[in-house]
Amino acid sequence: MFMNNCVISLTDLNKSFINGAGSNHVLKQVNFSVYSGEMVAILGQSGSGKSTLLSIMGLLDTADSGHYHLCGQDVSSFSAYQMSQLRNSHIGWVFQNFNLIADMTVAENLSVPLRFNSSIKQADYEAKINQVLDEVGLREKTAFYPAELSGGQQQRVAIARALICQPDIILCDEPTGNLDSSNSNNVMELLSTLHQEGKTVLIITHDPAVAAYCQKAYKIHDGEIAAVSPLEFKHAV
Ligand SMILES: Nc1ncnc2c1ncn2[C@@H]1O[C@H](COP(=O)(O)OP(=O)(O)OP(=O)(O)O)[C@@H](O)[C@H]1O
Ligand SMILES: [Mg+2]
Repeated sequence: MFMNNCVISLTDLNKSFINGAGSNHVLKQVNFSVYSGEMVAILGQSGSGKSTLLSIMGLLDTADSGHYHLCGQDVSSFSAYQMSQLRNSHIGWVFQNFNLIADMTVAENLSVPLRFNSSIKQADYEAKINQVLDEVGLREKTAFYPAELSGGQQQRVAIARALICQPDIILCDEPTGNLDSSNSNNVMELLSTLHQEGKTVLIITHDPAVAAYCQKAYKIHDGEIAAVSPLEFKHAV
């Protein structure tokens, strides 16, 4: 599915980190757009700035200069509260190490984003939780703790958590990095289904098999981002 509707637009974006060795200019005048309904892979060597870029797009971090338009809104001047509201309603996050809360059950983990979303009533929590667990095929695990699930199941719960506030964009930072190939395929099939249902999906990966699920791929190198063709997937990591 492709609609000419830009959901993520980065213009002349810069990000540096200051450390003991001086300043590390990680993102240099980056220009990058993602359109509604795209499924995009972001590749690049370790330390090239992939997570930094995704953190800025996911409103977990801010750039030093440049502009970021998310769904048409310039977030560069937003307050932390406005950013968290925008993040909660537009973006679902999926991380390599799942980031589930160990002493909460699956249902309790899934309730966390709901508590930060004032437009969802508490009376509707159970139905919302059941709906996303059905989507990821884990309804029977509602009362389980994360440690009682396989890695693949934990990642599917994390995807359910990413979906629960009905975001239009799913950002995944190496979602299959801790999974074997069978679980990795399951997670990618699930993300592909979400993409086919209309979600915009961005995936950081080192794995050409994961990138091959995406219609577009970009590579970060020396602080710059450039499109790579699917044929280059094998050589891009
Ligand atoms: N909070 C921070 N403070 C200082 N330097 C940082 C910080 N976060 C990232 N960096 C530096 O920025 C660069 C890019 O880091 P980033 O995590 O974006 O890389 P990456 O491409 O995601 O790598 P990997 O594939 O290993 O996850 C690295 O040199 C890293 O050391
Ligand atoms: Mg990273």
